[in-house]
Amino acid sequence: MADFKRRTFFKLGLTGLALSIVKPSKATELISGTFEGKVDGPIVISTWEHGLAANEGAWEVLNAGGRAIDAVEKGVRVTESDITNRSVGIGGRPDREGHLTLDACIMDEKSKCGAVGYLEGFEHPISIARTIMENTQHVMLVGEGAEDFASTYGFSKVKTPLKEVKDDWKKWKKENKDVFEKPVINHENHDTIGMLAMDKHGNLSGACTTSGWAYKMPGRLGDSPIIGAGLFVDGEVGAACATGLGEAVIRIAGSHTVVELMRQGKSPQEACKMACERIIAKHEDLTGLQVGFLALDKNGNYGGYSVYAGFNFALKTNEKTELVNTGFDRNW
Ligand code: GLY
Repeated sequence: MADFKRRTFFKLGLTGLALSIVKPSKATELISGTFEGKVDGPIVISTWEHGLAANEGAWEVLNAGGRAIDAVEKGVRVTESDITNRSVGIGGRPDREGHLTLDACIMDEKSKCGAVGYLEGFEHPISIARTIMENTQHVMLVGEGAEDFASTYGFSKVKTPLKEVKDDWKKWKKENKDVFEKPVINHENHDTIGMLAMDKHGNLSGACTTSGWAYKMPGRLGDSPIIGAGLFVDGEVGAACATGLGEAVIRIAGSHTVVELMRQGKSPQEACKMACERIIAKHEDLTGLQVGFLALDKNGNYGGYSVYAGFNFALKTNEKTELVNTGFDRNW
């Protein structure tokens, strides 16, 4: 997808988030591309084009017969290390005060999960989330506590944001003086990587990681570190993850909603579509409110759907490596 489109995905002010019921538009005539399927054997799907490289990382684990949880961690670490990526990991854009704060979560087929939020100065929030999952009785650590935890477990500090990103932020700050002084949300992109995988034993896992809303208010957390919002896995049913405007995803407990709809018998693609429709129904002003969901059920059926056109996901199986356009409710 063109950078231009990504940057225009999230043009939404705080006033645009007032809740009220609106009728979802009919989308059938707008839907294009293939966006659902089924596989036997290992599979990994992940959000956006950056998912192509991330899936390769995950596939090294899946192809060797490894666990889905190891695959998703390894996969999204690729994106977290990509210094050209402005919405995930160390190349991400900072908050309005110039601090790059990262959010991530991870979950396995047994409902074990870990999450980290508002983490500054570490390259791999996903691995810190996993370390929380495996070494504490907690699910989520944020801020300084998470940073102390990460240092204790041997994660090294990195200097963030990158110089080029800091220069962009300084320019933004100068050009958005009013916005900077008033709490009005401005955002350029926040395209999370969410990844779902099933290993050769049929176990599901997921991971989700982001730098969040560019130039967000300090302290803001989106959906990505929140189990049930940015990611949810139920080994008996399926897994789902989200990308886009985190506030809208949180309002409907998005990924949990998708998994529960699959539990009720909906296909992954139908479940993602219904979750999008729920978001649409809960927002009066949908201007630029993009959210996309991906889902994978325990039988290897996968699918995705988004509020607006333009969402895609990377798919890798024994047979296929491709970028798939999802169905969507409306055009821009
Ligand atoms: N979906 C990522 C965020 O809103 O932070």
